[in-house]
Amino acid sequence: MAIRELNLTYEEFIYPDEIPAHIASLVEKAVEAAGKAYAPYSKFRVGAVVELANGVILSGNNQENAAYPSGICAERSSLFFANANFPETAVTRMVLVAFDHNGITVNPVYPCGACRQVLIETQDRFRNNIEIWMVGKKTVQKVNSVDTLLPLKFSWS
Ligand code: THU
Repeated sequence: MAIRELNLTYEEFIYPDEIPAHIASLVEKAVEAAGKAYAPYSKFRVGAVVELANGVILSGNNQENAAYPSGICAERSSLFFANANFPETAVTRMVLVAFDHNGITVNPVYPCGACRQVLIETQDRFRNNIEIWMVGKKTVQKVNSVDTLLPLKFSWS
């Protein structure tokens, strides 16, 4: 038996002071997207902005449904929208923000397990790491690859 260790690294920034201008503009767009979420059940609004290798910037948000599992998270709605419209173009970056009843969540919002699986397939499909910026009220955390969020991933190969 062997014990193996994983070493995961992420960056943490003070929000908003330490955020690069381009990322700050993407956060604004994510906030805007969260404002358009359809979340009458949870009242938890999530906005996801994706940037593509061709510079195109798209967004998505969570879309709930009375039949709960029929809804979808912001991450997948933005990724599927991107892949549906730009099937040949890599996604290079995602910026996430969520609002609860107190405004932007204190802790940065992290993609759920199902979204991580879709994120990693998008990353692998285009052989291009996706940088993910997860925004909280005072801190923003960034990973340079989906591998950091889903190190022992499922795949066929
Ligand atoms: N949700 C997202 O959109 N993204 C996440 O990363 C976590 C959860 C949505 C799903 C549901 O509409 C609401 O937030 C509460 O779970």
